[in-house]
Amino acid sequence: MTSEPDATTAAVSTADLQLHYGQTTVLKGIDIALGRGKTLALLGPSGCGKTTLLRLVAGLLAPSKGSVSIAGKVVADAATGAFAPPEKRNLGMVFQDYALWPHMTVGGNVAFPLEMRGIGRTERQARTMRALERVGLSAFADRRPSDLSGGQQQRVAIARAIVAEPQLILFDEPLSNLDRELRENMVGELAELIASLGLTAIYVTHDHSEALTLADQVAVMRAGRVEQLASPDALIARPATPEVADFLRLGGIADLERRGESWNFKGSDIALMPAATGAVGTARVLIPVAAIMPGDMQPGRLAATVLRSQFRGDGHLATVSLAGTDHVELQVLSRIKLRPGESVGLAIDSNQVRWFENSLPSPQ
Ligand SMILES: Nc1ncnc2c1ncn2[C@@H]1O[C@H](COP(=O)(O)OP(=O)(O)OP(=O)(O)O)[C@@H](O)[C@H]1O
Ligand SMILES: [Mg+2]
Repeated sequence: MTSEPDATTAAVSTADLQLHYGQTTVLKGIDIALGRGKTLALLGPSGCGKTTLLRLVAGLLAPSKGSVSIAGKVVADAATGAFAPPEKRNLGMVFQDYALWPHMTVGGNVAFPLEMRGIGRTERQARTMRALERVGLSAFADRRPSDLSGGQQQRVAIARAIVAEPQLILFDEPLSNLDRELRENMVGELAELIASLGLTAIYVTHDHSEALTLADQVAVMRAGRVEQLASPDALIARPATPEVADFLRLGGIADLERRGESWNFKGSDIALMPAATGAVGTARVLIPVAAIMPGDMQPGRLAATVLRSQFRGDGHLATVSLAGTDHVELQVLSRIKLRPGESVGLAIDSNQVRWFENSLPSPQ
């Protein structure tokens, strides 16, 4: 069994990390610990504090309260005022906008962190070429960044971040300026690169598929807090809250109430599943996409109306409204395109319904 890393064994950790801007609290006490060679994704909606947390780890911001440790050493602590600047933290950073210097060549950009560290010309050139090879750009060393495509520019930024062989690499939405196909390819490449270099990485994104593809651990953030920190598998199997399930687009969230022998959708006569004797009250559940088979309306199926539908690679993902309920919306995956306003019948496999922990236990 592997034990969770703590502040002394972790590659990066934070303890009760807070950041205030005047009266506004942007981070409300973040505790994370990431093991060496692991990738953590910070996932959450715009404004939840992802970049702020990354900047605190990088040393571009100092905490209002709490501390940050890297490789067992405290690099920032609000209580003592201890603060190591970014260049003393042995890390590399990659930003959304690449932040390349336009007046320098690709090689000059990549070599820059080595120059800052006072590394001699010959070694600098060798290491720059090695970093460019890693990202498949060794033929581009003498070009200007402006002569490169967006994807190539981002590769230059990645080469610059790894050239000094940092222990930790921080990414802030590095792929969000790229088109979808390139983004999907680069996520895989990045994961391979991080693994082959044995890097510890923190990867900020608001794209759940990027986070789940790349990370060993995902911190789902909301309004300055970590709502859940877990592996991708655990997040999908056991989302802690309806908000996490919703953000990961795992399916529809519904409120149920016990009515006689069954669990009904709240305020309706529509039964979802039988209730065990003794089960009482109300519950909130996730009905995963995979639990629902859409088809024609037949006896035993639940009637629903299609609200909207989007193609997502393996079929059409539609949001439907369940007839006879108070606006219960579910997500279904259909091989054929479903049009808004169309009626469908849903067969729901109640064994796949997930009950949230602070809700009632499964009525088996
Ligand atoms: N310098 C600042 N002064 C005041 N408030 C700030 C400052 N910088 C950020 N904030 C606020 O802090 C909150 C978190 O910002 P942050 O940039 O960390 O969000 P984010 O999760 O990275 O969002 P996005 O996905 O849009 O990049 C936001 O509400 C933002 O308005
Ligand atoms: Mg941000």
